[in-house]
Amino acid sequence: MNAPNPRKADHPVSQHFLDRWSPRAFTGETIPDSVLMRLFEAARWAPSASNLQPWIFLYAKHGTPDFDLFHSLLAEGNRPWANNASALVFLISRKTRLTPEARRVPSRSHSLDAGAAWAYLALEASAVGWPAHGMIGVDFDRARDELHVPDDCHIEMAIALGKRGDKTALPEKLQGIEAPNARKPVGEIVIAGPFPKR
Ligand SMILES: Cc1cc2nc3c(=O)[nH]c(=O)nc-3n(C[C@H](O)[C@H](O)[C@H](O)COP(=O)(O)O)c2cc1C
Repeated sequence: MNAPNPRKADHPVSQHFLDRWSPRAFTGETIPDSVLMRLFEAARWAPSASNLQPWIFLYAKHGTPDFDLFHSLLAEGNRPWANNASALVFLISRKTRLTPEARRVPSRSHSLDAGAAWAYLALEASAVGWPAHGMIGVDFDRARDELHVPDDCHIEMAIALGKRGDKTALPEKLQGIEAPNARKPVGEIVIAGPFPKR
């Protein structure tokens, strides 16, 4: 059985922030294209510096040769559970931007912007019942080769998407952490004004 959500906010906040969490137990059922596109649509509306939208999402649906390829690029610890995802996604960001004079220069916020797009996707995914689980456990060198990632792009993360399954299908050590986790208190992450003087 899956436990109810024990999260409590320190301050009033929209419920969807507490409801989103990252499961590992998935059913592996087919994800409709309309749902996938809905999630990318949400990501699309994330804010980014100069509205550059430096994100690119590569996706593969369960049961396709691309899914097997994407799955093989995950770290060993992620492969056993991500195998039951309905789709695997790689989030890529472009590290450069074009100046008005058509010169390519480094973009300072490509990862920050891509992170906002990931968060939008994850919130929408949770809201429509196809939750997302982000992964940094990736063989990034192989992923760069196998996914033909251009040189001016950064592989940010992989993402597993699916309908929540029963945690008893997970390897035993993952069953114990298949639940919404906690956060540091707001008082630990917020400072009024600068850091204290050193
Ligand atoms: C960028 C990023 C990378 C992550 N990498 C992994 C990973 O490789 N494997 C994994 O099991 N979880 C991974 N996670 C999930 C985090 O552990 C999880 O988001 C965090 O514990 C907070 O839990 P919640 O998402 O359920 O609220 C990752 C999450 C993010 C955002």
